[in-house]
Amino acid sequence: MTDKRKEGTKKTDDRSKAEDGANSLNAKPSSSGNHRRLQEDRASLFDLRTTSGQILFIVVTVAAVVLVQCLPNDSLKSLLNLQLPRQHCKPEVQFVEKKVVSHESRPKYWVFGRNPTGGHLLHVHNVLQRLGIDQTSNDTTDWDLLWAHDYPFRKLNLQRMKRHQLVNHFPGSGYITNKVDLSTTKLQYIPAAFKLPAEMTQFREYAKTNPHKQFVQKHNQHRHIQIKRTDEIDFSNNDTFIQEFIDDPLLVDGYKFDIGVYTVITSIDPLRVYIYKGDILFRYCPVPYHPFNASDVDKYIVDTEAMLTSLKNLATAANLCSELPCTESCAPVECQLCSTCLEEHDIDDLQRAYREHMNRGDMKRIFPVPKSDQHRVDYELLSAKNQFMSKWFEEKCKVDQSYC
Ligand SMILES: *[C@@H]1O[C@H](CO)[C@@H](O)[C@H](O)[C@H]1NC(C)=O
Ligand SMILES: *[C@@H]1O[C@H](CO)[C@@H](O)[C@H](O)[C@H]1NC(C)=O
Ligand SMILES: *[C@@H]1O[C@H](CO)[C@@H](O)[C@H](O)[C@H]1NC(C)=O
Repeated sequence: MTDKRKEGTKKTDDRSKAEDGANSLNAKPSSSGNHRRLQEDRASLFDLRTTSGQILFIVVTVAAVVLVQCLPNDSLKSLLNLQLPRQHCKPEVQFVEKKVVSHESRPKYWVFGRNPTGGHLLHVHNVLQRLGIDQTSNDTTDWDLLWAHDYPFRKLNLQRMKRHQLVNHFPGSGYITNKVDLSTTKLQYIPAAFKLPAEMTQFREYAKTNPHKQFVQKHNQHRHIQIKRTDEIDFSNNDTFIQEFIDDPLLVDGYKFDIGVYTVITSIDPLRVYIYKGDILFRYCPVPYHPFNASDVDKYIVDTEAMLTSLKNLATAANLCSELPCTESCAPVECQLCSTCLEEHDIDDLQRAYREHMNRGDMKRIFPVPKSDQHRVDYELLSAKNQFMSKWFEEKCKVDQSYC
């Protein structure tokens, strides 16, 4: 599990790097000057790291972007409570004054970042404006939502925020989304890790007293990770760390995997956390873990490319395929989709279909026909390929509503 978490961290890091900073969304607690409390709360959140706790914080960074893309407008709006800012935060007199204007005035957001008008933030502007929130320039303190693309707490003074103001980061989110920092915190559930060059000596000692252990070297900017012998490790490589490799990970049907759950933290103190139920990502390595081979990263590294080629994602009808007659023969039509029966061109078609499905965004599939329309179709009239494809969606639909 720890190891999967590592990969998940990698994923999150790379993503947040690509987006030039974390995008976690959280409500900044109301009173000012409670940084210490925030720190403590954050710490206890991560001390509580059960399996699900681990998963939760891994994906904190990507949560907001996905949520604004996936959640119905109303739920995001009500989650953020963006429409009610003025009622409970202004003295009565001001409230009356403000009321004259507030018929017209809508909540305002301020985008903070090195390039606030860049195309990478287009979806943020689009979604916020669709929610009825207007953009404001940075020369005012009269904003309701601060969307910081870069980590804001070192650059902006956010100690005196008003009760209704929200920021899409919490103090410390930069730290926990930095692979090197997070991995070398020496927390109980994180496999031993050593920052380079600072902790080189400790690493050498650890490696000496644990001669049977294997290690990986990781970098904030690198995707590629491979198990290395101690003498292969590049100790001069700054901003990297070395981490113990967990060699007995939890497997699903023999495959190593990771899980991504989009998460929104709406308040730190008191803590409130939501996960997005609409889309939970399971990603599998493309090659079974055993027999283990450290030169073959497809056995132990989960990445986007690997995900696309993983048979596991294409598999359907698991029960059927593990029973007679399908264990003996691929001839029966119901065995066609079993992974052992798939031909290379089938796999290619299924991979494309899988990829399209995962990236369908707002598109709705109309052929192969969705479940609700299947009574209109005469399967016998479809070509073999179309029957095959339709059958695949039908089987996927049995375990995942999104394919229906
Ligand atoms: C505010 O905007 C101006 C002009 O767009 C820019 O020069 C300045 O750096 C910005 N300040 C902050 C704190 O973002
Ligand atoms: C590593 O960082 C230190 C301090 O910033 C610097 O002096 C050293 O030259 C760097 N080494 C390499 C290999 O980049
Ligand atoms: C281990 O994997 C490498 C790279 O895929 C391959 O060249 C090598 O033959 C494998 N070794 C064994 C024993 O399978």
